[in-house]
Parts: sequence; C-alpha cells; structure tokens
Amino acid sequence: MHPYSQDLKQQIRTVRDWPKTGVNFRDITPLLQNPSQFRKLIDLLVHRYQSMHLDAVAAVDARGFIIGAPLAYALGVSFVPVRKSGKLPFSTVKSAYNLEYGQAEVELHTDAFAAGAKVLLIDDLLATGGTLLAGIELIQALGAQVVEAAVLVELSELGGREKLAAAKVPVFGVCAFN
Ligand code: PRP
Ligand code: ADE
Repeated sequence: MHPYSQDLKQQIRTVRDWPKTGVNFRDITPLLQNPSQFRKLIDLLVHRYQSMHLDAVAAVDARGFIIGAPLAYALGVSFVPVRKSGKLPFSTVKSAYNLEYGQAEVELHTDAFAAGAKVLLIDDLLATGGTLLAGIELIQALGAQVVEAAVLVELSELGGREKLAAAKVPVFGVCAFN
C-alpha cells in the first residue's frame, strides 16, 4: 500500500443508500475540497506514471476528468475524454455497459490516439468494472494500447479487478473499500 493511501482514504465520505437503497456511495468531494490531499493524489500518480513513457491519459466522464486532466498536464501528455454518449461532435466509436445503479454508454473520437499510442485509462472509482472495460475496448479498437487502468477508489467486492484482469489490463487502485 502506498504511504499516502490511508490519508487519502480518510477523505472519502460514505453516503448510505444513495442513489439507490443498498448502495454505499463513496463520495470523493471532501478529498477534492482539501488542497493538500488533492495534491497528494496527483503527485502520487505523477510519480507512478512519469517513467512509463505514456502518450496519453484517457479519463472517464465525469469524475475521471477531475483526476485525469491535472495528471495529463503534469505528465505533459495528451488528455483524451472518454465521454458519455451523445456529447462528442466528431465521428465516434461507442460501447454500452451496466453500472451498480443503472446503465450507460461511452464514446471516443475516432482520431483520439496515434496508432500504437501508450495510454493510461483513469477514473475516480472501480465498482463492477463495466465502465473501465468499455473504455478499454474503445481505446483498443482505435489501435492504441492500455498500459494500465488507475482509480482513486476500488470497491473490492464488486469484482471489477477480476473483470479487468480477464482483459489483461493491470489495475492500480490508490485505496480500497470492501
Ligand atoms: C461512476 C464512477 C465510475 C463508474 C464505476 O460513474 O465514476 O465511472 O461509476 O462503476 P463500474 O465500475 O460499475 O462501471 P457514473 O456513471 O456514476 O458517472 P459520473 O462520473 O458522471 O458521476
Ligand atoms: N460508481 C459505481 N458505484 C459507486 C459507488 N458505490 N460509489 C461511488 N461511485 C460509484
């Protein structure tokens, strides 16, 4: 476990029964409101990825953008938004998936990556893994390589890590909840 993991985990608020009964929503906004903790998170990720020769950070709409954009800026690589359906104006590829509390579809612009680009896919949270798997499928369909998928929060009991392992993509989680 990273030395910052416990501090960062303490900044995540749990909201019971939201947005549906039975869901423990892991809310990252207290961490974002704390400048030194938010800086710790970005610094930790910069440290992990700065020697991996990435070409791009792709991040999932919407909470993934909050982490992915400062990380791409600090690493000096492209930022690519993986958007919820119907938001991107140019030609796209799309993939649908199920969530812990609903369904969604994500899209990427077809010109998002150079052929063979090395991409880090980032999101705030890994639950069932459906979102990241859909993002991985799109990135790979465009001829780029997903070097790793990274999240701030991993919900260990929902099987997301196993789903991504089956797709042969390593997962890095900063902190985990059961
Ligand atoms: C949340 C979260 C992840 C996804 C994880 O996104 O930000 O993207 O669920 O769930 P999964 O591992 O089961 O796919 P949500 O679709 O709620 O969107 P938001 O970022 O716009 O709030
Ligand atoms: N996305 C999917 N499940 C979630 C949860 N339990 N908390 C926050 N975001 C989520």
